[in-house]
Amino acid sequence: MNQEDKFKNVISHAKEYGFVFPSSEIYDGLSAVYDYGQLGAELKKNIRDHWWKSMVQMHENIVGIDAAIFMHPTTWKASGHVDAFNDPLIDNKDSKKRYRADVLIEDHIAKIEAKVEKEITKAEKRFGESFDPVMYKETNPRVKGYVDRINAIEGRMKQCLETENLEDLKQLILDEEIVDPISGSRNWTDVRQFNLMFSTEMGSTAEGASKIYLRPETAQGIFVNYLNVQKTGRMKIPFGIAQMGKAFRNEIVARQFIFRMREFEQMEMQFFVKPGTEMEWYAYWKKERMQWHLDLGMPEESYRFHDHIKLAHYANAAADIEFKFPFGFKELEGIHSRTDFDLKQHEEHSGKKLQYFDPEENKNYVPYVVETSIGLDRMFLAILSQAYEEEQLEDGSERAVLRIPSKLAPYKVAILPLLKKDGLPEKAREVIHGLKGAFMCQYDEKDAIGRRYRRQDAIGTPYAVTIDHQTLEDDTVTLRERDTMEQKRVHIKELSGILHENIGA
Ligand code: GAP
Repeated sequence: MNQEDKFKNVISHAKEYGFVFPSSEIYDGLSAVYDYGQLGAELKKNIRDHWWKSMVQMHENIVGIDAAIFMHPTTWKASGHVDAFNDPLIDNKDSKKRYRADVLIEDHIAKIEAKVEKEITKAEKRFGESFDPVMYKETNPRVKGYVDRINAIEGRMKQCLETENLEDLKQLILDEEIVDPISGSRNWTDVRQFNLMFSTEMGSTAEGASKIYLRPETAQGIFVNYLNVQKTGRMKIPFGIAQMGKAFRNEIVARQFIFRMREFEQMEMQFFVKPGTEMEWYAYWKKERMQWHLDLGMPEESYRFHDHIKLAHYANAAADIEFKFPFGFKELEGIHSRTDFDLKQHEEHSGKKLQYFDPEENKNYVPYVVETSIGLDRMFLAILSQAYEEEQLEDGSERAVLRIPSKLAPYKVAILPLLKKDGLPEKAREVIHGLKGAFMCQYDEKDAIGRRYRRQDAIGTPYAVTIDHQTLEDDTVTLRERDTMEQKRVHIKELSGILHENIGA
């Protein structure tokens, strides 16, 4: 199955089994807004809990907060979002579709990169073990030509974005003969800036309503509370403040399902450090966050770092952790060294000091910040697309299985009475009663046992327990494992221990 088909299947599977629905679907949905169904809400909650536990519970110098979505409007002036949270927008006059100019160029670069990869794979086969891809890239004239072209395009794009030269950004699109992926035409409008923040009004007009914004990132709720938390928590640098919650962006290009949404959730952590030590911490958190993904059992080859060409207005270093989604490697998480930009800006706009008294140095300073920021919905999509498999079984039948990491699976165990009679349902409910305090359990008595196993595979339940007549005699059950489909007979008393050991819940 090609990746495009796989992605379509993941989306329809997510809907069919109650993971993700289009928002307000009975009114034909709302563009780039989604609702999580009964299984999606569980999976999302498990990802959230796992992140919180790894970041807050497992670090004695990180605490969590929950700030409001609405913030004083000056927050966004200070943070730079009112003036600089823009995307360069371009329309195609024939298809009437709107694009981000930088994304069009990045997609174009990705096509040239694919040509480089193809040449390298071919050469690898030809030269065998002695093949050196780095040397090949530098010396093979055709490949070197591609690499030089990529560098030239990236360099020019960076220059255009940094100097906000929108005319030359359009010229770059024309020079590279980039066509609209839908109409195939090069009939482009000029590039213009578009602010991504949603705004609304607070208060009645009689009182004089004021314009406020829906937060476009959770990070600013942490910055404005920096001193509150540092003082009340008696936090010593280096320390972190974590937060998760909704963020809102009026994205120009809404596509790829829950990858780019207008309402989404972030899980962010700001780590406050002594100025001059930020690069050490930046390297530390890059490594630590990558390890978090790998510890979930996600494959290493599905991840890579991408160092930013265009640094955000607040950063002196930034990298993305990219994940291989079915539509290619894309940003999943960002690690940013944000300097003292935000705290200094808030000091200036609020007139309040946001400093730290360092007892070792015996002086006050504004701390530097290293941030880790991951989109909860993107992590959800990464897990779902990695987990989804259509398998041909030995007996010729097929199954769709979600190999979700067990600790994140919506249900941990399904309890299935073999028949709907003879006291088996009652016994099954007894087993559930013993497990449900610690594990999400699902009861299912409908259809033949094979079909019930398939249903559990399709929603990613790692274990199924079947209650049969022998259970009534000796309290043993059949325990079936999702991934291997292996079955073994165990005592009811052993179930909790086995689940704890293998699920880590
Ligand atoms: N505080 C830094 C910040 O917000 P960002 O790179 O703009 O940085 C961080 O966003 C993460 O939030 C991204 O890596 C992505 O996972 C997620 N994210 C951003 N925009 C999103 C959107 N429109 N839909 C879903 N997730 C998004």
